[in-house]
Amino acid sequence: MRRPVIAGNWKMFKTVDEAVETVASLATLVDGVSDREVIVAPTFVGLAAVARAARGTNVSIAAQDCAPEPGQGAFTGEVSAEMLADAGATHVIVGHSERRQFFGETDDTVNAKAKAALGAGLTPIVCVGEQLSDRDAGRAEVVVEGQICGSLSGLTAEEVVRTIVAYEPVWAIGTGRSATPEIAQQMHRLIRETIAKLVGADVSEAIRILYGGSVKAENISALMKEPDIDGGLVGGASLDAESFARIVRYGY
Ligand code: 13P
Repeated sequence: MRRPVIAGNWKMFKTVDEAVETVASLATLVDGVSDREVIVAPTFVGLAAVARAARGTNVSIAAQDCAPEPGQGAFTGEVSAEMLADAGATHVIVGHSERRQFFGETDDTVNAKAKAALGAGLTPIVCVGEQLSDRDAGRAEVVVEGQICGSLSGLTAEEVVRTIVAYEPVWAIGTGRSATPEIAQQMHRLIRETIAKLVGADVSEAIRILYGGSVKAENISALMKEPDIDGGLVGGASLDAESFARIVRYGY
């Protein structure tokens, strides 16, 4: 049985104080929800304070990115996975489409970051997803399969099982145009089959695959009814504690 995960990606939003207030309200609103994992991803500068505010609650903390290099070193502007773990993170988003699109991240970079995260004991949330032009050209499956193979390349079965995958079609992010549950399910199935080919069916049946792209309280239940959708990676609707708590509490 795969434990659902509802993760909020706060992107480049919220001051430290705002982030702390939001996580405190969220923790109260989702208190007692124990059958699913709840995660929020603040900015680097907010992470330690948010992690402190969330201590003892059922909200876990993710970073939005990490350095591909482990440990410490002369890499100005970078933050290593070890440093994120030290600051209270348990998860880290890697390869978000905004990083692939605006910061030139390739599958190789994402792969290095996933390895760095695993090496530091963090759970990487590896994002994949096609552009609208890929879908229109009938290339969505090939693109996502390639991203999965490249991003997870060289990971052992034990490492893949500790990883979370997020399928976020770029055309559904921040557009209000969510993929239908059927479209998302088809891609999640393909991702699971691709992972089965890479590291075996046991791992592919155990790994959690989240859907992201205009997830809201209104569509989360329908998405979660699909057999291969194990949770959501939520952007805009995670910024407000009450709105995010409604998503976390789907089905209650
Ligand atoms: P929205 O929920 O705002 O579409 O963002 C999705 C996303 O990018 C989460 O990582």
